[in-house]
Amino acid sequence: MKVSPSILTCDFAHGADELRFVEQSGADMVHLDVMDGVFVPNLSFGPPVIAALRPCTDLFFDVHLMMQHPRRLVPAFVKAGSDLINIHLECADDIAATLKEIRDAGKQAAITLKPATPAEAAFPYLTMVDMVLVMTVEPGFGGQSFMADMMPKVTALRQEIDRLGLSVSIQVDGGINADTAVTAAQAGADIAVIGSALFNAQEPKALVDGVHTL
Ligand code: DX5
Ligand code: ZN
Repeated sequence: MKVSPSILTCDFAHGADELRFVEQSGADMVHLDVMDGVFVPNLSFGPPVIAALRPCTDLFFDVHLMMQHPRRLVPAFVKAGSDLINIHLECADDIAATLKEIRDAGKQAAITLKPATPAEAAFPYLTMVDMVLVMTVEPGFGGQSFMADMMPKVTALRQEIDRLGLSVSIQVDGGINADTAVTAAQAGADIAVIGSALFNAQEPKALVDGVHTL
């Protein structure tokens, strides 16, 4: 599995240092959690903070938009330096049109499913995305417990992606640690978002190395 550390709980006064920590852990990319205070009951950061972090690292920016209306800000997230822009299937915008705008801008596109959203809801969009994110907690906050009952959804998506012969990654996000990553990998996920477990790890590099072997 690849590892995409979420810097949601990091110290934003020292963003450059936190990105160096992510680089030194051996992670493959960095996961940026954008929350609008409407789609989820929490507020984080937007394009200006992503633009400020961009010159600090060459890491791939995996941008998870927990927003009710992501479409109007796609150009701003592109300009800020996002490499992948991920929208929620449950948002209020036109999903296909928004994914097309992301890809037309030359960026990777992805969709996310909240826990209550079934795998089948993503099927019509699988040819339009590079990645599908299956939330393994209710989005909004770091540090919650992994929902193992999301694993059949991961497996259903993996089977449909394979049936269609597509190369779409499946990411899991929420409560991932060395143990739950094993469960997610067995279900068919290939990218693990890791927030609190990595930032609290005694040996971050050992955690990332371990997940890489799954
Ligand atoms: C939750 C976010 C996650 C979260 C991950 O809404 O999308 O990326 O911060 O944090 P942990 O790994 O602590 O659950
Ligand atoms: Zn996230």
